[in-house]
Amino acid sequence: MKTPPKTYHVKSFGCQMNVYDGERMGELMAAEGLSATDDAAAADLVVLNTCHIREKATEKVYSDIGRLRKNAAAEGRSPMIAVAGCVAQAEGAEIVRRAGVDVVVGPQAYHNLPALVAKAAVGEAALDTDMPAESKFGALPARRRVAPSAFLTVQEGCDKFCTYCVVPYTRGAEVSRPFAAIVDEAKALVDAGAREITLLGQNVNGWRDGEGRGLELLIAALDRIEGLRRIRYTTSHPNDMTDGLIAAHADIETLMPFLHLPVQAGSDRVLKAMNRSHTRDSYLRLIERIRTARPDIALSGDFIVGFPGESDAEFDETLRLVDAVGYAQAFSFKYSPRPGTPAADMAGQVPPDVMDDRLQRLQAALNRDQAAFNAASVGRQCAVLIERRGKLAGQMLGKSPWLQSVHLMTDAAIGDIVEVALVQAGPNSLAGVERLRQAA
Ligand code: SAH
Ligand code: SF4
Ligand code: F3S
Repeated sequence: MKTPPKTYHVKSFGCQMNVYDGERMGELMAAEGLSATDDAAAADLVVLNTCHIREKATEKVYSDIGRLRKNAAAEGRSPMIAVAGCVAQAEGAEIVRRAGVDVVVGPQAYHNLPALVAKAAVGEAALDTDMPAESKFGALPARRRVAPSAFLTVQEGCDKFCTYCVVPYTRGAEVSRPFAAIVDEAKALVDAGAREITLLGQNVNGWRDGEGRGLELLIAALDRIEGLRRIRYTTSHPNDMTDGLIAAHADIETLMPFLHLPVQAGSDRVLKAMNRSHTRDSYLRLIERIRTARPDIALSGDFIVGFPGESDAEFDETLRLVDAVGYAQAFSFKYSPRPGTPAADMAGQVPPDVMDDRLQRLQAALNRDQAAFNAASVGRQCAVLIERRGKLAGQMLGKSPWLQSVHLMTDAAIGDIVEVALVQAGPNSLAGVERLRQAA
C-alpha cells in the first residue's frame, strides 16, 4: 500500500515522440491535481518514459530505477515508479519481476495512467500494454502552456519491419490521426505559446487522411493558422516521399527547409537485408528531386554501421553515399541486436572493434560535412526563432530555418523571431548578429 501521490516527475528517453508522450502524461497527472517537480528523487510518482531501440537504451532503464530508489531512500522516501514507453511495451510484466516497479504502461495505453496509479496506490497490479482499436488521443486533456517549438504526433506505428528494428512491435501498426483533430490540437498549441510545430510520426510522411490525401494537405492547412510561423516534420521514410510533399517544400513558406530522411546504409545488399525497400540509387535520385524543389534544403539522416554481414567494401559504400549527399547533420549508431527481430539471428554478426572503427570513420565524415554546411552559412541572413537563454548575460539561443543552433546578443524574448546575420560558425552552432525583430 502506498499513499496516493501528490507530486510527479516525468523523464523521457529516446525519440521526439517520447518527448511528446511525456508531456501528455504530465498533463494527465496535472489534470488529476498532482503538481510537477523537477527533482525526480523528491517526487511521489516518477514516470520513466523509456526507449527500447538499442540494448544500451533498455539497460539504462534498470540502472535508472536503481539510482532513483537509492537517491529517494537517502531522503527516507519510497516513490511510486511507473515505467512507460517502448520498454514497457516490449518487456511488460518482466519489468515488475526484475525491478519491482508499481506501474507498467505501453505507448498506446498511457491515457489510463491515472487509473493505473490509483490501482497501484491500493496495492493492486497495474499493468496495461494493450493496443486498443480506439485511439488514446480522445481521452487526453487539453494542451497547457508549451515552448515556442512544440511537438505534435500525427501518425504512429510502423508497418515497414526493417529487420533490425523494434518499433513495429513496440508502437504497433501505422495509424494516422484524423485531420480535424490534428488541426484543433495545432491551434491549441499556438494558443498555448507555440510558434513552431514539428509534426511527429515513426513514418510521418506516411500520414493519410480518410480520403487517402497525404501530409502536404495537412501542412497546407496548418500554414493557414494565424500565429504559427514554422512547420517541420519527422521522421520520414524515403518510400513515402511523394511528389506532393516534395512540391510543398517549394510552395509553402512556413515549411522549413530541413528534412530528416534516414537511409541507414549505402550498399544495396545491406539495404535489402535490412528490408529497407529502397536502393542506394533510388535514395540519391529522391534527394536530387527534393533539392530541385528546394535548393537550400538541409538534409539529415540516420545510419547503422555493422549490420550483420556488412563487409569493409559495403561499409565504404556508406561513406561514399555520405560524400555524395553532403548532410547538414546526421545520427549514426552501431548495430544493436534486438530480441525478436530477424536481424538478431542473422549470420555474420560484426565484431565490436570493427563496429567501433566504422562508427569513428563515419562520424568523422558526417562531422566534416556538418562543419562545412555551417561554414557555408556564414554571411547568410535568416530568421531565428528564440527558444531559450544562453550562458552569457544578454545572450539568447534559437534555431535557424535549417535547424542550426544560433546564439546572439539580443533583448528579444523567448518566442520572438529575430532577423539575424550569421557571422561565425562552429561545429555545432553559429553566432548571429541581430538585424531586425518581429514580436511573437
Ligand atoms: N522511424 C524512423 C526512426 C526509427 S528509430 C526511421 O525509420 O528512420 C531511429 C533510428 O535508430 C533508426 O533510423 C536507425 O538508424 C536506428 N536504429 C533502429 N534500430 C536499431 C538497431 N537495432 N541498432 C542500431 N540502430 C538502430
Ligand atoms: Fe524501424 Fe524501419 Fe519502421 Fe523506421 S521504418 S521505425 S527503422 S521498422
Ligand atoms: Fe525508442 Fe520507442 Fe522512440 S524504441 S526511438 S522510444 S519509438
